[in-house]
Amino acid sequence: MENIRVVELFAGVGGFRLGLEQASSCFQTVWANQWEPSMRSQFAFECYERHFGHRPEHVCQDIVTAKGNIPPHDLLVGGFPCQDYSIAKKGARGIEGKKGVLWWEINAILRTHRPRYVLLENVDRLIKSPAWQKGRDFSIILRCFYEAGYAVEWRVINAADYGEAQRRRRTFLFAFRNDTALFRKAADLICVEGLKGAHQLLLQDGFFAPIFPLYGFERKYSEGWLDEFRYLDLKDLSAAQSCHFYTSGLMVNGRFYSVESIPLQFPYKPLCSVLETAPLAERYFLSAADIDHWRYLKGAKQEIRHRRNGSTYFFSEGSMAFPDRSDLPARTMLTSEGSVSRSTHVVADPQTQRLRTLTPIECERLNGFPDDWTAGMPERLRYFTMGNALVVPLVKAMGKRISALAEDEQRS
Ligand SMILES: C[S@@+](CC[C@H](N)C(=O)[O-])C[C@H]1O[C@@H](n2cnc3c(N)ncnc32)[C@H](O)[C@@H]1O
Repeated sequence: MENIRVVELFAGVGGFRLGLEQASSCFQTVWANQWEPSMRSQFAFECYERHFGHRPEHVCQDIVTAKGNIPPHDLLVGGFPCQDYSIAKKGARGIEGKKGVLWWEINAILRTHRPRYVLLENVDRLIKSPAWQKGRDFSIILRCFYEAGYAVEWRVINAADYGEAQRRRRTFLFAFRNDTALFRKAADLICVEGLKGAHQLLLQDGFFAPIFPLYGFERKYSEGWLDEFRYLDLKDLSAAQSCHFYTSGLMVNGRFYSVESIPLQFPYKPLCSVLETAPLAERYFLSAADIDHWRYLKGAKQEIRHRRNGSTYFFSEGSMAFPDRSDLPARTMLTSEGSVSRSTHVVADPQTQRLRTLTPIECERLNGFPDDWTAGMPERLRYFTMGNALVVPLVKAMGKRISALAEDEQRS
C-alpha cells in the first residue's frame, strides 16, 4: 500500500501521530507543527521531538508564519482551539475572519494544498457555539469545506462509550475531497435517496459508523443548505445562519443533515483500571489540613461572591462526587488536572484508601498514551498537556479506517 503523507497541526505531544502510527505504517508524517503561545518553554514540542526525533520537518513556530513551508500531503490532522469564528470585517481584501483565529489558518492550508482527507478534533461544544447564535461557527467551518471542494462527516464521540476509561466528549470531523470514491458514493446516495441516503451513511457505511457503531437515533434532526444559493458568501452566512447541529452529521455539496445519535455502548474501563498500585509520593495525597477545603470545592454552594470592582453576585452550583467513583470511567480531564480545583479528580488510593489526586502516569493512561510519555517536563505541564490531548485509541481506530479507504481508492 502507498504511503499516506500526513501533516499534523497543533500537534501538542503527538496524540494524532501516535494513534496513526499505531494504526498503520503507511502513515508518514512529512511535517508537524506545535507552538505554545503563552509560554517561553516549548515543553510540548520538546516532548514531541523526544518521541519522534529532532528533524527539520518538526516546526516549533506560530502556524501563522510557519504555514508557508508546508509540503504537499494526503492527510491533514489537528486538534485546533475552539474560538469565535465570526466574520465581521470587510477591508480591502474583502471578507476576513477575526484576527488570531486559528480556523482561518487551517482554511488557508486546505485551499493551498487540497489534501485528500482532513481529520480534525475539537471540544463537543464546537457544533453549538456561539451561545447567542447556535451553530454559526460550525456552519462557517462547513461552508469553508464546501467552498474548498470537500464533504464533511462529523461525530461527537464520548471515549467511554467505546471502551475507554474517560468520559471525554470530543467533536471529530472527517472531510474528504470531491474526487475521492467516498465523496462520489455520498453524493450519489444523497442525490438518489435524499436525506434517507445521508441517514444510511451515518448509521451504516459512512466514515464513523463502521468503527464507532451506533445503536440508533433519537427523533431529533436538522437539515438545510449552506451553499451560495442560501448564503451569497461567508459574511452573509456568518451574519444570519443559526442551526442546532446534532451529534452525527454529514455535509455534501453544501447540503447538511444532522441527527442525535445513540452510540452502541461497549463495556467501559473503570477509573480504577488505570490507577497505579505501587507506593506513591506523599505530594499526591490530600493532607488532613486540606480536606475541608477540598470538601468545600466539591460541595454544593449558594453564596454571595464579590467581583473585583466590589459589586456582588449570587453564585450557586451543585455538589459532585468526592472522592470520584473509581468503578466508573473518569470525568473529562482538564488542563488544570492535579491542581487544587473542583475539576481535579480525587480518588481513594487502592493500596491505602487515603484520598489523593491522579498521578501524571494515570492521566496518560486515561488518554491511552504509554506510561511516562510526558516524563521530563515539570509535573504541572504533564497534567496540562494531557488536559489538551486526545484519546489515542480513538485516533488509532480512525487511522485504520482511513488506510482501508485509501487502499480501496487505490484498487478502484
Ligand atoms: C488542543 S491542543 C492539541 C493537542 C494534541 N492533539 C495532542 O494530542 O497533544 C492544541 C495545541 O495547539 C497549540 N497551539 C496553539 N496556538 C498555536 C499556534 N498559533 N501555532 C501552533 N500551535 C499552536 C497548543 O500549544 C496546543 O498544544
